[in-house]
Amino acid sequence: MERRLKPAVFLLCLLPLAWLAWRAWSGDLGVNPVETLNRYLGDWALRFLLIALAVTPVRKVTGWAAVMRLRRMLGLYAFFYVCLHLASYVGIDLFFDWSALAKDIVKRNYITLGMLAFLLLVPLAVTSTNAMIRRLGGRRWRRLHMLVYPIGMLGVAHYWMMVKADIREPMLYGAILAVLLGFRVLDRVRRRSGAAHAAAPGR
Ligand code: HEM
Repeated sequence: MERRLKPAVFLLCLLPLAWLAWRAWSGDLGVNPVETLNRYLGDWALRFLLIALAVTPVRKVTGWAAVMRLRRMLGLYAFFYVCLHLASYVGIDLFFDWSALAKDIVKRNYITLGMLAFLLLVPLAVTSTNAMIRRLGGRRWRRLHMLVYPIGMLGVAHYWMMVKADIREPMLYGAILAVLLGFRVLDRVRRRSGAAHAAAPGR
């Protein structure tokens, strides 16, 4: 059962893309297909980022160790959907007009934050292989990958700044991110104080 978990989740993660392809094929992307496409991919990029961040808390709360085997794949899926989101913007929306992209990055704050989030995700994707983990050493690798929290914040801020009226959805993503980050911070504090007690049992 656990052997099949990873391939099953791998296929499951492709479903949003398959659904998008189906909608595009059947001409069901609404009056502004380019915008629908770009926003849909942005939504899934953020969702996968949050799902990947939820893996460690799920393991700690439920004790389900096998879930950890999904973490890297889910993080890479977040990167994959971000790449498609960026590609749809640069390729389909801007027709590879690089000077328009440069102008957008400078002038539109939400694009600046999105681009920053993307650039910070690149080193995490590049260092996701076992060879890179060995090369960096576990401690440095873990430190580097803590960047995923600021990246999540940038992703939420990017979305929040983009919406004009209804902020409920970015607010929900922000709340989920805050809970996940809060969990990790509390867990770290608890472990540190546990270690301090163990080191000084007489106190
Ligand atoms: C970690 C990186 C990123 C994440 C998580 C992300 C996520 C999102 C989300 C959730 C949305 C809103 C979708 C909706 O309305 O339902 C969005 C919109 C958008 N994003 Fe991103 N994004 C990222 C990076 C980028 C980058 C690098 C660019 C371009 C340089 C970009 C350009 C856009 C544009 C143009 C929109 C739509 C704006 C509009 O239709 O008015 N994003 N993104």
